[in-house]
Amino acid sequence: MTVTVTGAGGQIGYAALFRIASGAVFGPDQPVALRLLEIPQGVKAAEGAALELTDCAFPLLASVDIATTPEVGFDGANVALLVGSRPRTAGMERGDLLAANGAIFGPQGRAINDHAADDVRVLVVGNPANTNAFIAQQHAPDVPAERFTALTRLDHNRAVGLLAERAGAAVADIDGITIWGNHSATQYPDLSHATIAGRPALDVVGEEWGRGAYIDRVAKRGAEIIEVRGGSSVASAANAAIDHVRDWFAGTAAARTSVALPSTGAYGIPEGLIASVPVRAASGAWQVVEGLEIDAFSREKIDASVRELESEREQVTALGLVPAG
Ligand code: NAI
Repeated sequence: MTVTVTGAGGQIGYAALFRIASGAVFGPDQPVALRLLEIPQGVKAAEGAALELTDCAFPLLASVDIATTPEVGFDGANVALLVGSRPRTAGMERGDLLAANGAIFGPQGRAINDHAADDVRVLVVGNPANTNAFIAQQHAPDVPAERFTALTRLDHNRAVGLLAERAGAAVADIDGITIWGNHSATQYPDLSHATIAGRPALDVVGEEWGRGAYIDRVAKRGAEIIEVRGGSSVASAANAAIDHVRDWFAGTAAARTSVALPSTGAYGIPEGLIASVPVRAASGAWQVVEGLEIDAFSREKIDASVRELESEREQVTALGLVPAG
């Protein structure tokens, strides 16, 4: 199993590599070849991580290679974790942010198309994750679209953790939470169909909190971590990426989770937008959980986040960051 991690010299890369190498993603019987893709400024950090990987003597780690071009980095990749990106910095206009990421994710998508293994599965972590995944997917016409996903599992895990904390319940007793839409402040953590030990979650915690402060707390958890910790989420983000890929291959242990993947039109989300929806995984593929009843409150929240994704898609199209047609 060849796993390519971009931004491997960065914080999330550093937190993820050792767990991938230890067997946390593919289990105790699957050897892993790691490919660390970095830009020149990040190569030293990636080399340092590679030295430490050697020092862990992981029995499952077959090899570690460092690459600085996407063509080499994605050659033969079965899994591509796209972590390196250009996040927004102070004073940066939205168009500049999208253009900078288009310059990263367009070529990476093309290299995945041309060089990765036929069964490649892609998870985009680098922000703006949904739209970066859209750009990469649009440059990879030969790869089935549903193999391109973006990470909303961190939001999902935050939503589970915070609900468990509020209810004084065990994480294992919680099911049926959905993160809808964009991995951004407009995301909608939805408790409408969630249960705690079989009881409707909104009955347990009350609608006022469950459809009020809770939504804000989950959506702004990243900012809360930055404020308290003095830096962005790292270990929890790497953990979520590992959960996402593990479940993709092994199936969902919990009945449902949330993944951003190209819409097939379910729940009125325009086709092709990479939006977070409720899913299960089986036989190596995500299956959207269809048929959930969406009430007026949820509809409005989902629509608002989907509108934001549509606007991002319009902007990257207008900027020429995705192939025409
Ligand atoms: P970081 O700044 O520590 O590391 C990023 C690394 O990416 C750097 O080593 C940099 O050299 C590398 N890089 C930049 N452009 C690259 C390219 N074209 N090819 C290969 N490598 C490249 O950042 P950190 O903390 O590891 O976060 C990475 C990304 O993940 C950020 O965009 C962050 O916003 C995002 N993130 C997403 C979350 C989610 O839930 N979707 C949660 C937390 C962070």
